[in-house]
Amino acid sequence: MIQVTTLSKLPPAYKVLFTGFLMVIGVGLMMAGFQIMETHGKADGKPGLSINDIIYSYYGNRSGSKLESMLNGQMEPMAPDEVRFKMIQWARDGASNKAYTAEIQPLVQQYCVSCHGPGASIPNFTEFENLKKVAEVDEGASIASLTRVSHIHLFGISFIFLFVGWIFSMAQYPPKWKLILISTPFAFLILDVLSWWLTKYIPSFAWLTMLGGFGYSLASSIMIFTSLAQMWVDEAHWPERWSRIKHL
Ligand code: HEC
Repeated sequence: MIQVTTLSKLPPAYKVLFTGFLMVIGVGLMMAGFQIMETHGKADGKPGLSINDIIYSYYGNRSGSKLESMLNGQMEPMAPDEVRFKMIQWARDGASNKAYTAEIQPLVQQYCVSCHGPGASIPNFTEFENLKKVAEVDEGASIASLTRVSHIHLFGISFIFLFVGWIFSMAQYPPKWKLILISTPFAFLILDVLSWWLTKYIPSFAWLTMLGGFGYSLASSIMIFTSLAQMWVDEAHWPERWSRIKHL
């Protein structure tokens, strides 16, 4: 688009339209942040987002199965040690159906099914399939889920950045920084999605996921705040430090 005007000189209808959009996107970004804390933040069992959460989410916790970590953690009081060890050994040996029928099923029946029964909101362990699932080594995100989340992210979020950047392109801002700010979210979005795939195979790439998310949140926050300020704060009242950009 050819730049025909600046944000401060837009007709009120456009200002209201753009403000509505930027506000909703701003709240949306915060919600996305909360959601990440809620889902990935708890992956390592501790509150707050850490590198370990990202590793557990994408690479998995390959030191053992969920069954094993629960039996050594939260579920420890539920069964005597020898029962827990038998279950853990069964999981490590590949959780076969044969050994399940012979040894494990009666133990599960006795110690677990009172809570993990049909109709409960926690996994129902009267079904072999459900127990088998938690007995497998946690390999993190599946290729299917990564593919799904990747394309939804790339298609969906690029539109948000397109409109945020479009509005911001009408701001008065040092031209070099304007180009950097407009391009940063796209670059970091690619980096972010790429980093999930890398972390799936090589856990040390988790820091790249942190960097990617941080990068585009920061760039879009600056664009949103600058655009809102320039639409609604009269040029005469702009802070002294902005005096240079008034003439850009
Ligand atoms: C007193 C009730 C109770 C008993 C008995 C019990 N559990 Fe649990 N179990 C729970 C609850 C509640 C959760 C969900 C905990 C959470 O999500 O924080 C859970 C979660 C789990 C999970 C994680 C499931 C998932 O996919 O998130 C595993 C694995 C598990 N229990 C294994 C066992 C085993 C094995 C036994 C038997 C030795 C057992 N539990 C006995 C209440 C129980």
